[in-house]
Amino acid sequence: MSKMVPLPTNSIIPERDLDKIPVLETRHLGIDFGGLTAVDEFNLTIGRTEIAGLIGPNGAGKTTVFNLLTKVYQPTRGTILLDGKETSGMSTVQVNQAGIARTFQNIRLFSSLTVEENVKIGLHNQVKYRTVNGLLRLPSYWKQEKIAHERALELLSIFNMEDLAEHRAGSLPYGAQRRLEIVRALATNPSLLLLDEPAAGMNPSETAELMENITKIRDTFQIAIMLIEHDMNLVMGICEGICVLNYGRIIAKGTADEIKRNPVVIEAYLGKKKEG
Ligand SMILES: Nc1ncnc2c1ncn2[C@@H]1O[C@H](COP(=O)(O)OP(=O)(O)OP(=O)(O)O)[C@@H](O)[C@H]1O
Ligand SMILES: [Mg+2]
Repeated sequence: MSKMVPLPTNSIIPERDLDKIPVLETRHLGIDFGGLTAVDEFNLTIGRTEIAGLIGPNGAGKTTVFNLLTKVYQPTRGTILLDGKETSGMSTVQVNQAGIARTFQNIRLFSSLTVEENVKIGLHNQVKYRTVNGLLRLPSYWKQEKIAHERALELLSIFNMEDLAEHRAGSLPYGAQRRLEIVRALATNPSLLLLDEPAAGMNPSETAELMENITKIRDTFQIAIMLIEHDMNLVMGICEGICVLNYGRIIAKGTADEIKRNPVVIEAYLGKKKEG
């Protein structure tokens, strides 16, 4: 892991990313649900090739942050800069096309479609399918289909899942479904990949493999990854900058070593019994 350096905004990013525009910068980001302030004053910068962690107790607002970044919710206040550009007014589809992809805490696949078809849904966001060509099945349609097929298999090979391409997504074991969700997100060609509890429900060997693969994905695609996770071995093992949320507010930012030793974090989260 490269050295982490502090920014004037009180975030830390990897030294190797210092000369590039941060992939993500949020300023005073917040959302209220009626009288409940779910997230407030969320200020975070993520480096272009950083693996970042977002942790905190159940109900702290972690998934809500992902929902704000991906425009599932429009923020009540604050700004989100993706590659230095504001995303205000964008829809979920537009923000995905602009470079943010995600997976969900509860798996969301098209379970009756095949593995390959699920990946192609991600690719669809990218490859420009011309509807007329598709309807008439013109040669250019078949050419695009071939490209999409090859690209889908290539992406599935990250997790050695090419042989499962024809299987129904819903028939895969749980861990494989979680991996497929990551592949589908990657198919949209993101610059920032958001993973919401990717190791949930995985056994220790699957989790260990996942850790290697998250790092491999970052290295191969040179993208940034932010993950929410309760598995502290995973978080502390691969995350460079870690942000801790409690009651919707950031209570600490730092490296794994700093977070582990932070008394406020221990009191609010790490000292408590394991949560799932
Ligand atoms: N659409 C909504 N309407 C009202 N309240 C909401 C909504 N979405 C989230 N909340 C509330 O916002 C708070 C944060 O929820 P969130 O799901 O972001 O927590 P989390 O940190 O992801 O927790 P967990 O670790 O259990 O997944 C909770 O109090 C939750 O009830
Ligand atoms: Mg959550």
